[in-house]
Amino acid sequence: MVAQPFRSAGVLLRGCGSATPSRSISNADLGQRVETSDSWIRSRTGIAARRVLGPSESLIDLCAASASSALTMAGWEPDSLDLILLATSTPDDLFGSAPRLQSRLGAHRAVAFDLTAACSGFLFALITAAQYLRSGAMRRILVVGADQLSRWVDWDDRRSCVLFGDAAGALVMEASPDDRDDLNGFLMRSDGSRGDVLKLPQIDERAPLVGDASHPQGGFQPIQMNGQEVYKFAVREVPGILDELLQQADLGAEQLDWLLLHQANQRILDAVAERFAVPSTKVLSNLANYGNTSAATIPLMLDEAVRDGRIQAGHRIASSGFGAGLSWGAALLRWSGPA
Ligand code: ACO
Repeated sequence: MVAQPFRSAGVLLRGCGSATPSRSISNADLGQRVETSDSWIRSRTGIAARRVLGPSESLIDLCAASASSALTMAGWEPDSLDLILLATSTPDDLFGSAPRLQSRLGAHRAVAFDLTAACSGFLFALITAAQYLRSGAMRRILVVGADQLSRWVDWDDRRSCVLFGDAAGALVMEASPDDRDDLNGFLMRSDGSRGDVLKLPQIDERAPLVGDASHPQGGFQPIQMNGQEVYKFAVREVPGILDELLQQADLGAEQLDWLLLHQANQRILDAVAERFAVPSTKVLSNLANYGNTSAATIPLMLDEAVRDGRIQAGHRIASSGFGAGLSWGAALLRWSGPA
């Protein structure tokens, strides 16, 4: 924690990083397991392959690699961090994986905890981090979005298994020393009444306790998804929340440099872009190579576009995360990059 509290109006995005498992599973590979085809998956989703963790790899390995890259880009030492927020629905440990990440990085001063909001998790964590920075409670924060949905997918369910992959992405943010601000507005929403369309529920089993008494056995069922309802939710709510955010900021879509959406399905990205008449050249997409990596998609895409030079210092980015909960959110970002 910071010894000397100070107040800051703004936040600056200073560095990013990402990591994916080395093993890539193509659509044709999946065709060996379920009745599907490369053309069906590509035409319905835009996905060509996904990365899947191997037996000797862990989520924390990916988190640590992505975080180290982000810290290196920013030129920061790990022990300059005040907070580590790990957005994940699939931690290595249900009690939380963020403290393990803190230890792996050697970020001795940082407090670390997990935040769960499925595919909205990274955006919600970024917005949460900004509040600590704006209040003056903290100066430097690492936000990681990471998921290993491969552990929780039913690999025999062709309606869902083709969609998902594993990855981690990281962003380091700091309190602005002046009037610059890289978070120019945000909105967040939840609707638990529609939660059943996409869930990863507990198993419904009981185990003996003492005498006749039993207790619920821990464990989770595979992902359950109503694809058409999730699709309808996304193409309705994402344009809606982005529209509200742009109006709030008094910005036109033509003033955006990039649309950085949760990478769920190319058809969802195309529908949102069409709604705002944003040309496809401004819509960031890498789901062909990685599929839907849940909380990792936004920082994974951000990192790719920063490192290949598409996103440059000063660029204005509209981002939206959406998914299970149901939950969705949007943020207007600016990329500053290293000081
Ligand atoms: N390969 C071949 N055929 C398939 C496959 C597959 N992988 N999956 C489904 N089918 C079949 C179905 O069995 C069905 O056949 P039938 O008519 O003989 O019963 C037919 O294809 C049509 O099935 P639909 O479910 O209607 O297919 P749809 O066009 O809706 O596409 C999809 C399915 C791709 C899942 C789509 O609904 C979608 O993208 N939804 C959004 C889901 C999503 O993004 N989830 C991610 C998690 S949430 C998030 O990140 C926002």
